Amino acid sequence: MLNVAVMGYGVVGSGVCEVIRTNRKSLSEKLGDQVKVKYVLDIKEVAPDDPEASQIIRDFDILLNDPEISVVAEVMGGATFAYDYTKKLLMAGKHVVTSNKELVATKGTELLQIAKEKNVNYLFEASVGGGIPIIRPLYSCLAANEINRITGILNGTTNYILTKMFREGSDFETALREAQEKGYAERNPSADVDGIDACRKIAILASLVFGKEVDCAKVKTVGITNITSSDVAYAEKMNSVIKLIGQAELKNQTVYVSVEPRIIPKGTPLASIDDVFNGIMVNGNAIGEVVFYGPGAGKLPTASAVVADIIDCLRNDHNREYFWTQAASDFVADSADNFGKYLLVTKCADEVAQKLNITDRVFVTDGEWGLVTDVITERELDTVSAYIEKYIKLC
Ligand code: HSE
Repeated sequence: MLNVAVMGYGVVGSGVCEVIRTNRKSLSEKLGDQVKVKYVLDIKEVAPDDPEASQIIRDFDILLNDPEISVVAEVMGGATFAYDYTKKLLMAGKHVVTSNKELVATKGTELLQIAKEKNVNYLFEASVGGGIPIIRPLYSCLAANEINRITGILNGTTNYILTKMFREGSDFETALREAQEKGYAERNPSADVDGIDACRKIAILASLVFGKEVDCAKVKTVGITNITSSDVAYAEKMNSVIKLIGQAELKNQTVYVSVEPRIIPKGTPLASIDDVFNGIMVNGNAIGEVVFYGPGAGKLPTASAVVADIIDCLRNDHNREYFWTQAASDFVADSADNFGKYLLVTKCADEVAQKLNITDRVFVTDGEWGLVTDVITERELDTVSAYIEKYIKLC
């Protein structure tokens, strides 16, 4: 019997138990032995007829001290208890797998170091892209490449909301409520709609591929709460859509990284990724461009990635060495140096056009102009901030 434990019996935790229960037969064929969820750690009451009712424990030390438990799934979220428990488990020589992007993004450097020292795994396939295989492909299948850019729709909830706004003209609140009802959204929706969740995910991907920690605090992060129906109309005039995009680009040993709503021309790969789906485009010097696409949130897709990591630990009882190190303070560029083309919405088109040398005026609505810049830095953009109502970066 291969005994595992699950910490956290929420949406993802119950999904992990369900996948192990439903696929018991095929898992045991793959592993040559039966997998059993011996413990589920959670403080909340569970109905007596819940399939995991007899496995529920409230005392972390029980699973920590049980020598039969070699793999633990941490799906409780947050970075307080989850951090403390993960650290103790790794120190005790147990493998930990997780969907907890907050913890990986903020404490990954330290936890990976401990895992390395203890020769155990700290795996986090489910932390980015829900059910999409992305961590392992980036680390293993694309290992031959020097990866220079990752661009992704990394948050299912905001993609669901934006899709509804574009397709159905829905308002923001209704679409958010639906996403929450479907179990996509974080407990605190601010993490989704303010871009924090996507920020953690791009920080994890960038740290993994560039080998040095990309600190979330240095990532320019803008959410979608200010996107209005008039922005939707502007994007449509440009035959484009708006998506919340996380991007990290390595240039001259510096990473330019951001999370922000961006205008994407229809017909390009990320523009057609709708609803709760995520899409991640990776540019490598050997492969060119590759796009990963799939369900970016939800109970079973996320559980699929967590259980895959559990299987990996049970199959390969050694350290996989996902790893990154601390970075110098200038590794992540100042956001003022971030660059791109922008749509500027302004009532002062002459001033803006003159200051930024824009020759083409794109369109006008009710005395408000939409101007598209050439590639400029945010520092240059700042020189016209007094004249513009808003800006949206192009992709
Ligand atoms: N709230 C997250 C999302 C869940 O909507 O993408 C998956 O990480």
